[in-house]
Amino acid sequence: MSDLGSRIPGFYRLSVAARRQELHARATLSADDLSTLEHGGLDTGTADEVVENVVGVYTLPLGIGLNFRVNGRDFLVPMAVEEPSVIAAASNAARMVREGGGFTAEADDPIMTAQVELVGISDPDAAKACIEREADELLRHAHLALPRLAERGGGPRSIEVRAGTHPGRVIVHVHIDCRDAMGANMVNTVAEALAERVAGLARGRGGLRILTNLCDRRCVRVRARVPAAALATADMAGEAVRDGIVAASCFAEDDPYRAATHNKGIMNGVDAVVIATGNDWRGVEAGAHAFAATSGRYRPLATWRQDGGAAGDLLGTLEMPMAVGTVGGTLLAHAGARLAQRLLGVTSATTLGMVIGAAGLGSNLAALRALATEGIQRGHMALHKRSVAAAERAAAARAGAERAAAKRVARPKPNGRGVLKGTAP
Ligand code: MEV
Repeated sequence: MSDLGSRIPGFYRLSVAARRQELHARATLSADDLSTLEHGGLDTGTADEVVENVVGVYTLPLGIGLNFRVNGRDFLVPMAVEEPSVIAAASNAARMVREGGGFTAEADDPIMTAQVELVGISDPDAAKACIEREADELLRHAHLALPRLAERGGGPRSIEVRAGTHPGRVIVHVHIDCRDAMGANMVNTVAEALAERVAGLARGRGGLRILTNLCDRRCVRVRARVPAAALATADMAGEAVRDGIVAASCFAEDDPYRAATHNKGIMNGVDAVVIATGNDWRGVEAGAHAFAATSGRYRPLATWRQDGGAAGDLLGTLEMPMAVGTVGGTLLAHAGARLAQRLLGVTSATTLGMVIGAAGLGSNLAALRALATEGIQRGHMALHKRSVAAAERAAAARAGAERAAAKRVARPKPNGRGVLKGTAP
């Protein structure tokens, strides 16, 4: 992205064409890119090669999350989502966080985990010891299954063995650095390549061989500091809003029913970027919710506290698994996803993950601020009304076109000689 940054005041008031021109100037999009924005980046012919029984393509609105600064760098954040107000809310929250210096984020190495289930193990302790003794040899074998990953600096890193709670079951985890790929295919390849060997070492049988979506070694951690004054509304002082957000966070920490909705607000931002950038949002969702429940109780993925005394800033922190990639997968087929990644200006999966985490934390901040002040319905309904009105206009136009078509069918057509078919000459 150019150094014009991610602040574009009045962007929402521009026409779609003028917004594209802004992106053209800032993100060096080509004319081809602009036409990809018009068509969504996936034609039916390509879709037919990606999945089965294709009859068309399904599109979503794509908007830009503005004002995002993560680790001192500005990002224009592509967001694909059907829900009104998600993009505006995330952009608004990012502007408040910007006043406190922007988001700070860190990411684990991109480690995914293959699971090999072993069953019928009569002595789990002996099986564990035997597999651990052979770990280096097993890792060497796993490397051979993924020669190209090693060339890119990744590869299998370690092996972990534990007894399952069910008698006779032992579970082997192979942790693999997937570099900039999400990695599902590579991880599954390793699981299948090692299964027979580890079953033999454990003197049991191989069961399932597949990645786990609870990729808790591939987390992002994002922090936001917001000066209380930046949170103020027309009716409430910033300090009161901050206290309301902290109270809302405590409610989610206290109650799984509230935590589920709190996390849904986070996933509004997370999924929108995951989808726009061509990543597997079901995997990210599965990882997020499993991670939220690892303590034995479902918990919020992000929490908010006050920093210091009465005038203290609001501090938010988010931690969640983030299995996303910037190479392979959907990107190969989907020009729209490739464009979204170019717009974002990321090439590494860890940077993409950190920006996605920031979109999640920003969305959470926006939701809690609305809930702690006037409630979400006023802002939400204003935007919702606009999309309902557009849907009604489209439905009326369709109905008009259908009526006109029905009339044309009902009216008898003259035959080639100017005589109405079915009428006596
Ligand atoms: C709506 O899409 C998301 C919220 O319900 C999130 C929340 O309650 O924190 C507003």
